[in-house]
Amino acid sequence: MRIILLGPPGAGKGTHCKRVIQKYDVHHLSSGDILRQQRASRTELGKKAQTYMDSGQLVPDKIIIEMMVGEITKCRNSGYLLDGFPRTVPQAQALADALAAVGERIDLVLNLKIDDQTAASRLTGRRSCPGCGAVYHLENLKPKVNGACDHDGAELVQRPDDRREIVANRLRTYRELTAPVVDFYKKDGRIYDIDAGRNVDEVTKTIFEKLDTLGAS
Ligand code: AP5
Repeated sequence: MRIILLGPPGAGKGTHCKRVIQKYDVHHLSSGDILRQQRASRTELGKKAQTYMDSGQLVPDKIIIEMMVGEITKCRNSGYLLDGFPRTVPQAQALADALAAVGERIDLVLNLKIDDQTAASRLTGRRSCPGCGAVYHLENLKPKVNGACDHDGAELVQRPDDRREIVANRLRTYRELTAPVVDFYKKDGRIYDIDAGRNVDEVTKTIFEKLDTLGAS
C-alpha cells in the first residue's frame, strides 16, 4: 500500500507512523527524519537543509523531490507510508508524475486535523531520544523516569525547531504552503479526514480501521 499521512506539525504523523509499521508491512519514509539524518552525517544535503529547518521554513522543493522520489523508488516493491512529504502542491504534483511514469498512484491520504493551539502545546512539550528516536511529551506521554528514555536510558532532548517562536513559523508555513495540498488530493476523493485532537490510542484505532478497509496486512 502507498499511503500519505498529511497534517500540520504536531498532528501526530510520526507517532502514528511508528504504530502503523509495527502492525502493517510498510516502510516509514519521513522527510523530516531523513533530513535530520543527513544533518547529523554532515552531508552537503544536510548542510543545505539546516538553515531552513532551524527557522521553520520549508527546504526548497527541488532538493526534497529528488531526495524523496529516490527513497520511494527503493521501496517500490513493498508498501510505504509517507510522513512530511508532499508538503507543497509542486511536491504533490511531482510525486503524482513520478508514480504515473511507472503506472502507480497513491492509494490513500490520511489527513490528521488539529487546531493550532493543540499543535503548539504538543510541539513545545515534545522530547525525544537521540539514541533510538522514541518520542515523548512532557504532559501527554511521559517517560517512566523524568528526562530519560524508557528504552535505553539516554537523556531526552528537545528538537531545535520545537522552540515556541519557531513553532509559530512552522504553523504559518503549514497554512500557506501545505494546506493547499489537502485540496490537491480532495479533487480525486482519495483523502480521509481524521480528528487528531483525540487521545493517541483513539486516533490510532481510526487509522487502523481505515487501513483495514484497503485490505492492508
Ligand atoms: P518534520 O520532521 O516533518 O516535522 P513536522 O511536519 O513539523 O512534524 P513533526 O515531526 O513536528 O510533528 P508530527 O506530526 O510528526 O508529530 P509527533 O507525532 O512527533 O519536518 C521538520 C522540518 O524539515 C520542516 O520544518 C522543514 O524545514 C523540513 N521538511 C521536512 N519535510 C519537508 C518537505 N516535504 N518539504 C520541505 N521541507 C521539509 O507528535 C508531536 C508531539 O505530540 C509528541 O510529543 C507526541 O508524543 C504528542 N502527540 C502525538 N499525538 C498525540 C495525541 N493524539 N494526543 C496527545 N499527544 C500527542
